[in-house]
Amino acid sequence: MFNSQRHEEILKILAEKRSITVEELSRSLKVSSSTIRRDLEEMEGKGLLRRTHGGAIRERKERARGMKIFLDTASIEEIKKATDWGLIDGVTTNPSSIAKEGKDLEALIKEIATIMDGPICVEPVATEAGKIISEAEELAKLYKNIIVKIPITLEGLKAVKILSKGGIKTGVTLIFSSSQALLAAKAGATYCFPFAGRLDDIGQEGMDMVKDIVQVYKNYGFGTEVIVASIRSPLQVQKAALSGVGGVTIPFDVFERLIKHPLTDEGMEKFLSDWKKIPK
Ligand code: G3P
Repeated sequence: MFNSQRHEEILKILAEKRSITVEELSRSLKVSSSTIRRDLEEMEGKGLLRRTHGGAIRERKERARGMKIFLDTASIEEIKKATDWGLIDGVTTNPSSIAKEGKDLEALIKEIATIMDGPICVEPVATEAGKIISEAEELAKLYKNIIVKIPITLEGLKAVKILSKGGIKTGVTLIFSSSQALLAAKAGATYCFPFAGRLDDIGQEGMDMVKDIVQVYKNYGFGTEVIVASIRSPLQVQKAALSGVGGVTIPFDVFERLIKHPLTDEGMEKFLSDWKKIPK
């Protein structure tokens, strides 16, 4: 295989996995680790990827594509409306939001999948690694783009590591500190969900934690994306965007409020009433 073919293969793998180790590449492309290291160095020089300790991650194209906005709900009605507006990238659910809908989980996820084709995050409720994995594997069969959202516990992280290696996308949830986020990234999570609002609720600045996580991931080139959860206001979305996160997951009412500004309403009213004054 020529260098250029190998580089293409590496890019294909990174498009799927976002991060990869030298050993994994050397195994799957059947070349030595030193050849892979040279490839990675060359590709980094061309801005095609970023080298990390022992491997590489995809260059952060998300930045160019924009920040992800997930809808934090299991309500079909809300998902339909937001999807219609064409602005959401995916949906996050949790046991509480699923329970609120009073429908069978499997049926609900399948129904959501008929409305939009972005990621759907679903939480297993098992608490022991082996059981979390089995539940996650079943959930992953429901739809092509399931993100298994696992609460941060030691058992949860064990499961995240195994599932991520096996190609199942994971998110680590109930994150309240940058040290928890660090462990989520080390376990190979696709997403990390820090709960900003619940920290605000107890008098701590949730967005400070978010900024710390963004910095930690940047320091070490972790490929895990930060999706800020537990959001209650447009202001939190603005702060999250300024901190450079991969995205936010927001309730429907916050989504609706994002577009609102009294001066826009006032301005629109004036434009329309002035327009009526033009003699026809
Ligand atoms: O998805 C979980 C998270 O966003 C929950 O938010 O408002 O219950 O703290 P909240």
